[in-house]
Amino acid sequence: MNLNEQSKLAKPTFNTRRGLMAVLVAATVFGGGVIRDAHAGSMSSWGPKWTGNGELELPAGYHTWVFLGSPLTPHALNDGKAGFPEYHNVYIHPEAFKLYRKTGQFPEGTILLKELQLTMPGTHDDGSRVEASGRGYFPAARNGIDIAVKDGKRFKETNGWGFFNFGHHAPPYAKTAAAAPKDACAGCHIANADNMVFTKFYSPILNAK
Ligand code: HEC
Repeated sequence: MNLNEQSKLAKPTFNTRRGLMAVLVAATVFGGGVIRDAHAGSMSSWGPKWTGNGELELPAGYHTWVFLGSPLTPHALNDGKAGFPEYHNVYIHPEAFKLYRKTGQFPEGTILLKELQLTMPGTHDDGSRVEASGRGYFPAARNGIDIAVKDGKRFKETNGWGFFNFGHHAPPYAKTAAAAPKDACAGCHIANADNMVFTKFYSPILNAK
């Protein structure tokens, strides 16, 4: 085979490689939530990360975020069948928290993350137990994550908030989640919350001076 024939043979391989590289570069730049919507603007460093097909990525490091409060609806107060008998630990990213304090509004890109946390096994009928501090409920294993994201464009249909469930079970949680249907989550928040968020429970910390 002379040099000319070799290069003819080699050419398609070269082109295929180039094509593959282009695809890889495109996938890296445009996929995996690396590029965020233009309207995300300056919050892109702390706001939600979306996969190429529009699913929300479970945020990393949320235990270092600001803790807003922890509603508790134990079985004992709900005929033994509370839907969510765990603590509902609610967190917000520190940057969104700062902006809320400045403006009194949740900024675009706010993530409210609710992690469920079981109570320790009870020694009384009401599920309570006695510890050195007294009788009551005490935190145990983590047991699920729900998230609400503020994005006026993406979630126009549901008053600018999207809702996501990453599992109601022990970790590991799902790494990504698709937006939940309106009647699964948003409907109840629309009907019962103050402007989509149950802010009254978090106000003592959100608005603390
Ligand atoms: C039947 C009503 C109802 C439904 C359905 C519902 N929620 Fe909520 N949600 C609440 C209430 C009430 C609170 C605040 C008190 C609490 O946690 O018990 C809350 C709190 C939250 C919070 C903390 C921020 C806030 O607004 O207080 C997140 C995040 C959340 N829900 C996500 C979800 C997701 C995701 C779904 C669907 C998978 C969902 N919710 C379905 C009633 C509901």
